Order: sequence, then C-alpha cells, then structure tokens
Amino acid sequence: MIPIKTCQEIDKMRKAGRILAQIMDQLEKAVRPGRSTQELDEAAAAAIAQAGVHSAFKGYHGYPANICVSVNDEVVHGIPGRRPLVEGDIVSIDIGIEMAGYFVDMAKTFAVGKISAQKQKLLEVTRESLEKAIQLMKAGNKLSDVSCAVQDYVEGRGFSVVRDFVGHGIGKELHEEPQVPNFGTPGSGPVLKEGMVLCIEPMINSGTWEVEILQDGWTAVTADKKPSAHFEHTVAICNGVPVVLTQ
Ligand code: MF3
Ligand code: CO
Repeated sequence: MIPIKTCQEIDKMRKAGRILAQIMDQLEKAVRPGRSTQELDEAAAAAIAQAGVHSAFKGYHGYPANICVSVNDEVVHGIPGRRPLVEGDIVSIDIGIEMAGYFVDMAKTFAVGKISAQKQKLLEVTRESLEKAIQLMKAGNKLSDVSCAVQDYVEGRGFSVVRDFVGHGIGKELHEEPQVPNFGTPGSGPVLKEGMVLCIEPMINSGTWEVEILQDGWTAVTADKKPSAHFEHTVAICNGVPVVLTQ
C-alpha cells in the first residue's frame, strides 16, 4: 500500500522541505577547494541543530554521519572524511531531515571551482532529468511515466542510469512505498494519486551504470571510475499536479 497524505500532512512536509532547502543553500556556500567532506558534515550538523530539526541519516542502519557526501566517481552514500575537495571535483550532497514527525530528503551535485565540460554536461543532464520526471508526477499517470522520463532523457544524451539504487515514498518514514526507479517499462507500475509523496532521485553516470560498494560498506562508486551525479527532490501530488516540497 502506498501511503496517502492529507493536505495538513503535506503542509508540514512543505515547511520541513523549505528548511531543508535553506540548509542545502548554506552547504552550497561551504563547497570550495580545500574544504574536507567532514567539514561539510560539521556545517550540516550545525545548520540542522540551528534549525531545530534532526538528521534522518545519522544512525540509519548504522550510518555514521549527518549527510552523505559523494565526490566524482562516488555515486551515493559517501561517508564524510578528511578528503579535501579540489578544483575540478563534483560533489553530491544528500540530506534528509525529520521535523515534527515527518521526513523530507533532497540531494544536489555541485561543481568545485571550474570543472570539465563533460562534468558540466553530466550535472545539467541529471538536473534536467529530475525536472522532466517531476513534470510527469501527476494524478492518473503511472509511476513508470516518471521512471521512463529519467531514463529516456539521460540515455538520449549518452549517460547511464544507476540500477542498484532507487527513489522512494516518504512521510512518517524516510523510506516508504513505492520504490521509484529511474528506469523501467512504459505503462507499468501503480497509478499516481492525490496525496502521494515521492522522492525522485536520478543517480546518473558518465560511463557504465554499474556500481561497486567500497570496503566501508556504504560508499557506492562507479565500476569504471567515471564521474556520477545525483539530484533529488521530495515531491507531492496536490490538486492533481506535482508540488516540489524541498525548495
Ligand atoms: N538519501 C538516501 C535515500 O534517499 C538515504 C541515505 S542512506 C543513509 O535513500 F544511510 F545515509 F541514511
Ligand atoms: Co532519498
């Protein structure tokens, strides 16, 4: 069963989402050469505490940090550490928070200084694939309309879609039904309905879609070491149409 939220619940999630977007904006300003990924985590911890909310990730299945920070060939679930960002890197920051009993979740990939044209294109295509998918999250459409929108857009531009991780429903839990793949068979899956809230999160690679998990048990990297990008929004269906809550 896919949980359906009331307007009041979605209102609470919108408030949490606005706060999350502000935290993300603060972290974007902290992205620069010389910053360690751990310093970004510390900045996130401070911003999360300041806002009076909670990290949804810390302690989740034993996850040790407040946010996920994934650099270059790291796809998702990078654990912050002493690694300094250097000019030319791309860095994906993924944050989930809980506020007043509701979760919201978002991710963005940022450029560190000047980056290559290929990395720039990867960021653009990933961000745009999320926008295309959001537009299709309408009541009456099928979930696969959302999934296929990402896949068609991305593969049409020569990039690949990660298969091992997917988006998800969200609300009273960080991960609720349904799974929201970024690939699929057209015309399949559940029909989208008023009150559904989904995290759509394309994870897009420049080379092969295949990933590996590092020794730390968390960090997913591309199998060919080529760069990867990740954008995520929490989106509700309100009055039949998609409403981005994390902005
Ligand atoms: N943002 C991830 C997701 O959407 C969650 C990160 S897993 C955690 O599923 F362990 F870091 F929390
Ligand atoms: Co998510």
